[in-house]
Amino acid sequence: MSNRLLSLLNIEVPIIQSPMVGVSTPKLAAAVSNAGGLGSIGIGASNVEQARAMLLETAALTDKPFNVNVFSHQPAVQDSVRESQWLNFLAPFFAEFNAAAPTSLREIYTSFVEDADMLQMLLEEKPAVVSFHFGLPAQSAIDALKDAGVVLLCSVTSLAEAKMAEHAGVHALVAQGYEAGGHRGVFDPSQDSEMGTFALVRVLADACRLPVIAAGGIMDGAGIKAVMQLGASAAQLGTAFILCPESSASAAYREALKGPRAHQTKVTSAISGRPARGMVNRNFTSLAANAPALPDYPIAYDANKALNMAAGAKANTDFAVQWAGQGAPLARELPAAALVNVLALEMKS
Ligand SMILES: Cc1cc2nc3c(=O)[nH]c(=O)nc-3n(C[C@H](O)[C@H](O)[C@H](O)COP(=O)(O)O)c2cc1C
Repeated sequence: MSNRLLSLLNIEVPIIQSPMVGVSTPKLAAAVSNAGGLGSIGIGASNVEQARAMLLETAALTDKPFNVNVFSHQPAVQDSVRESQWLNFLAPFFAEFNAAAPTSLREIYTSFVEDADMLQMLLEEKPAVVSFHFGLPAQSAIDALKDAGVVLLCSVTSLAEAKMAEHAGVHALVAQGYEAGGHRGVFDPSQDSEMGTFALVRVLADACRLPVIAAGGIMDGAGIKAVMQLGASAAQLGTAFILCPESSASAAYREALKGPRAHQTKVTSAISGRPARGMVNRNFTSLAANAPALPDYPIAYDANKALNMAAGAKANTDFAVQWAGQGAPLARELPAAALVNVLALEMKS
């Protein structure tokens, strides 16, 4: 197996483990990289110290390249009217668990687009690969990372976003289809094309110069082979790695993924303020129904985390965040290295 992207990333098999904040860990990323794929850690919700620690922990577990993923969303704008309407809407759900809704909400993490300290940390640590989700940072940040020798990837959900990423000078495009688990990388959610992986990969392979990495609903060697047939140079898999013992998914999340709930995933913005796909629970029914205008991402997420905490205190997981893609029923419970090996074998059959 060889192509331009594999040489660029310096990996042996065309398999990238998705960065997954809350699920991926340094152990998971290192196991995937050691097995010849590209492991990823997600630092989008971390502060600089936590991010550096995660990066160093991964580097201590592998000599191979790995990917560090940041969130480059439009910074949130506080809106006290929308925020208090959202909290009023949520109050009855908190009351179900004998809890009061918070009285205010915070922007729980900083966008990479305005986090000069995070950029500085990345320039100091120089991971082999950095990927952007939710948009592109300033051109100066892209140029500085490239000058430091870092390979840059960007999630894109449409041809328009792909052209912006190409113009900004990233090295490869992660074509994220609507099937994908977790947050959609769409730059502006009001302009979401909701394209599926099949069509998106084909459109980008036809119209872009850069290598395309397919993401969304790919769970096995047959899926990887299929997207490569469509013109992708590699596949990025997230949901397929959730059941690995190296992930930090909770026991309830794992059980849900192994059971009937894996068969119904949906996209909602009502959890965090941005569209994301997960296994249906009351986050997708009670919250999404009749919701007023949402606070900006990630301010809305602050409320959801508080609600899940209140529910959790009563041993209830109705509001737990359990992201998963449409391929969820195909998830396998294997150590990460074994999964990479099985995927590579399946690709050859
Ligand atoms: C649990 C979970 C968390 C995710 N978190 C991130 C993240 O932090 N950064 C990111 O770029 N993508 C994230 N994604 C999206 C992935 O990059 C990728 O698009 C997706 O996993 C592909 O679809 P699949 O899950 O069907 O394989 C996440 C996906 C999942 C399932």
